[in-house]
Amino acid sequence: MGEAISTSEILCATGVDLSYGTQLAVSGADLSVARGEVVAITGQSGSGKSSLLYALAGVLPVARGQVRFENRALGDLTDDEISTLRRERFGFVFQYGELLPELTIEENTALPLRLAGRRKKPALAAAGQVLDRLGLGDLRERRPSQVSGGQSQRVAVARALVHRPAVVFADEPTGSLDSANASAVLKEFLSLARSQDTAVIIVTHDQAVAAQADSHYTMSDGVLTPRRPV
Ligand SMILES: Nc1ncnc2c1ncn2[C@@H]1O[C@H](COP(=O)(O)OP(=O)(O)O)[C@@H](O)[C@H]1O
Ligand SMILES: [Mg+2]
Repeated sequence: MGEAISTSEILCATGVDLSYGTQLAVSGADLSVARGEVVAITGQSGSGKSSLLYALAGVLPVARGQVRFENRALGDLTDDEISTLRRERFGFVFQYGELLPELTIEENTALPLRLAGRRKKPALAAAGQVLDRLGLGDLRERRPSQVSGGQSQRVAVARALVHRPAVVFADEPTGSLDSANASAVLKEFLSLARSQDTAVIIVTHDQAVAAQADSHYTMSDGVLTPRRPV
């Protein structure tokens, strides 16, 4: 099993430090993520979880160490290459979903495909399919202000997965929902990701999600520790 995982590694961090000025937010993080693997990260507020995701996704540069995606160091890529990578190979889900209010649910979902240059019609068709899979097909024409919080979060999940990214970074993606709703959304999210072999790195307070993940790490004072590595 260990060997199979290492050959399918998609994202890898070694000795990663990330700091804001003199404040070290992530210290010496090591992490290896396989294709399609679900990795949960738990830890107290302020422990550096979001900062770690920013480092892994190439949103912020690392002060030390290295992040490699498909065996290429992010630090060796140009800004344009990093942007393209984030747009085409990565997906993101945040606590409040952050849909664009002026776009319909369908258009919001299709956004990653449109940004990758896909034409409107096929992009909307693909968005419709993902929305159907998440039970949101009827909401296609609505605006974000016309759907519930749980539905918005499902749309954010659909948008993060519509372009079949290699990795989705999810930062407390259901932190704004009540726990029943949160569990349902997370379950659908992970099941859809698994069905398309998308790796998920999810920051969560939900111990049930952490238990369902393939591996579980905790973050404390900027230090990442495996709880249950693959
Ligand atoms: N933009 C920033 N500038 C300065 N310090 C920051 C910034 N963002 C986060 N921090 C600090 O870095 C540490 C880790 O923050 P963060 O990664 O947001 O933790 P978490 O996501 O676990 O709550 C905290 O001490 C926080 O105050
Ligand atoms: Mg955070």
